[in-house]
Amino acid sequence: MKEKLENIMRLAEEQIKKIQSLKELEDLRVGFLGKKGELTAILKGMGSLPDGERPAIGKLANDARVFIENKLNETKTYLSDQIKQKQFENEKIDVTIPGKIRRMGSKHPMTIVIDDIKNIFIGMGYEIADGPDVETDYYNFEALNISEGHPAKDEQATFYVEGGFVLRTQTSSVQIRTMEKMRPPIRIIAPGRTYRSDYIDATHSPIFHQVEGLVVDKDITLGDLQGALAVFAKELLGSETRVRFRPHHFAFTEPSAEMDITCFVCGGTGCRVCKESGWIELLGCGMVHPRVLERLGIDPNEFSGFAFGMGIERVAMARFDIPDIRLLFENDVRFLKQFRGA
Ligand code: DAH
Repeated sequence: MKEKLENIMRLAEEQIKKIQSLKELEDLRVGFLGKKGELTAILKGMGSLPDGERPAIGKLANDARVFIENKLNETKTYLSDQIKQKQFENEKIDVTIPGKIRRMGSKHPMTIVIDDIKNIFIGMGYEIADGPDVETDYYNFEALNISEGHPAKDEQATFYVEGGFVLRTQTSSVQIRTMEKMRPPIRIIAPGRTYRSDYIDATHSPIFHQVEGLVVDKDITLGDLQGALAVFAKELLGSETRVRFRPHHFAFTEPSAEMDITCFVCGGTGCRVCKESGWIELLGCGMVHPRVLERLGIDPNEFSGFAFGMGIERVAMARFDIPDIRLLFENDVRFLKQFRGA
């Protein structure tokens, strides 16, 4: 028995010396001292010893346990210190190395304008809504009261996608998606990309951006539309900005209008930007057509609403004096750099 214990101590000492990791250390601890460990097995056999030998062997077994425990603990401390040391070395910072210059990026001019518009409407209690660029005919046309053969379908030269889909020609599709999901009161704007197969020139691009707006609640009137959009125009372009509404036609609003703003270059006296008229067309708008509401299960006798939609490229081009729409899509860094801090 005594010999066995001495063997175990020797074996333990040898193996502990070879330990490389905390995991190995724990395995050895279990191997020697655990419930099924070698030392425990010996202690369990003590019962069969003659009475006279038991105290001496018992003491020896206890010494062996303490011996192994101490060795294990010493090694653990040593290993932990080494791990920490390594970690410190990895985390060491040489404060004398010269810094790297990180060049500050800048927002794209379109992002600047869209963020401004979002902030204005968020300030008026609107939420931001979203919809997919690839749409079905239903959301882009039919639910907006634009049925087969409607002239608006041809006017908005549509990109068709395999499988019966279209690239949305207008963010008005998000109106429909919103009214499917939300019940009044609804107050949203939806900025996003829109697509039309136009020829590319200085003022036309097959990809462009619109911001759609939709308000549906009890007792919404044309006066609410005019008030909200007049405030919006002043916030976006300056408090001296005035607006005017011209009757127009859109299939999904009745009555419909286009809103002009006083030219923010000349202030309304006439210049190159406003083609000497003093006014610039900003957006289309109107009272949501009762048929549109009805189709989406919103009772037009109880609720009414207004909607508006505007192209954003023109706003960005006017605001930053950008002469060609293509500059907004080419992402030439020399162009984009100019908007740092704008
Ligand atoms: N979707 C129209 C367009 O692309 C713009 C528009 C007009 C949106 C009137 C509206 C609206 O929400 O009420 O020309």
